[in-house]
Amino acid sequence: MDKQLHHIDIATIELSLDVLKFALNRITFENPEIGAPITYEDLKAKVGDTITPEGIGGEKAFDLYKKHLLPATIPIVHPKHLAFVPAAPSRASLMFDLVTSVSSIHGSYWMEGAGGIFCEMEAMQWLVSMTGMPEGSFGVFTTGGTSANLSAIVVARDTWRRLDPDRKGKKGIIMTSEGAHSSIKSMANVIDAELKVVSGEGKLGYLALKECWTQLSSEDQKRVFAVVATAGTTNAGIIDDLKGIADFCHEKEIWFHVDGAYGGAALLVDSVRHLFDGVERCDSFTIDPHKWLFTPYDCGAIIYKNPALAKATHAQQGSYLDIFNEKEMDGFNPSDYQVQLTRRLRGMPLWFSLAMHGTDVYKEAVTKGITLALEAAQLIENHDKLELIMPPNLSVVLFRRKGWTPDDYKKWTYKNHREKTAFVTPTKVKRDNNYETVIRFCFINPDTSIEHVQQILDTID
Ligand SMILES: Cc1ncc(COP(=O)(O)O)c(C=O)c1O
Repeated sequence: MDKQLHHIDIATIELSLDVLKFALNRITFENPEIGAPITYEDLKAKVGDTITPEGIGGEKAFDLYKKHLLPATIPIVHPKHLAFVPAAPSRASLMFDLVTSVSSIHGSYWMEGAGGIFCEMEAMQWLVSMTGMPEGSFGVFTTGGTSANLSAIVVARDTWRRLDPDRKGKKGIIMTSEGAHSSIKSMANVIDAELKVVSGEGKLGYLALKECWTQLSSEDQKRVFAVVATAGTTNAGIIDDLKGIADFCHEKEIWFHVDGAYGGAALLVDSVRHLFDGVERCDSFTIDPHKWLFTPYDCGAIIYKNPALAKATHAQQGSYLDIFNEKEMDGFNPSDYQVQLTRRLRGMPLWFSLAMHGTDVYKEAVTKGITLALEAAQLIENHDKLELIMPPNLSVVLFRRKGWTPDDYKKWTYKNHREKTAFVTPTKVKRDNNYETVIRFCFINPDTSIEHVQQILDTID
């Protein structure tokens, strides 16, 4: 009896209290530690076998987690975690992530999840309003930018094929830039589409697309079904010329997708809003609340200008699903608009945090990342051993340590990780057809201050 999965006894209640105390501590703590690097073998030696026929007991498993496993991680909320695109979920969204879990709602169909789906729809409406896309545009939350991009690209190709039956057996082509995120290449692979990467180190725009187009054979031109623009490249924060790309797509009658997984949040920021002009003309738009909108993993989003096209592509059919589409239960079914059927209501934590704080706080918090990038650039310019690669774009700062080899950058990263001082990683930038290793800061976390930046710069000798 005491081994039954759903049995409630005193020990279960005590353990639940421990878990809640731990959660409370993590939601309110202010000084996270960067975990030290450790090998699998070392972890295994500390933890031993955890999956056994009899179970090791919740208390022991939780202790092992707290003592050995959690310390072997780098909290994304650390203010000196400036690698990749970091994240910084708000405390409100963390709280509500717990509520989302324990509410046990199936987030696919209105019939089952109406109340939770309503929360997501409220948050989605706000995201749509940021883009300026036309009336009727709407979207759903996904596991992240990769699945948002995949969901959109599949709709783009399906729509293209539906328009002309001759296209059915043809491999479509997607045009994109060198700065596009790696997920675009992966997703093209997944759907067996060809990728045409328009060369050039800066923004993708009308002229570069046109030039690339004219170099294609007329047969290949007929296979192009989409352009993927990036609104905030991951490496450099660059926003493509969305107006020019919109014109090109309009002229050629092809799908215009904008990947704003990282940069989309900056739509909120007055000083850079004009850089997004043209985004309102896209067919689909990716934005990741788990990046710069302070939402816990995993939470991406895809917005469509014409959601009916997405439904025609993604709505799954099955006799056991028919009831969910019956007229009397008519409501919004998020599963119909992306690649996943069963889904967590991952937009609920964002909804709660927005409802609690209001949208002005979001605007301020995103603006802070951009301001900090400008201040950090100033510190770098004043440093005699450092050199900016380019002025900051959005919240990304790229700079070199004069005289360093690629190996020096690596050693510096590992040393900071080992000593738990910061998590900053190098990247490569293309300069005159050569790739140079440089340091990259990406500011997302409103708790990161210019003092933290100075502390990191002080570790560069
Ligand atoms: C521009 C861009 N697109 C897509 C992605 C992929 O998003 P995810 O990691 O949420 O799948 C990223 C991730 O950094 C990104 O920066």
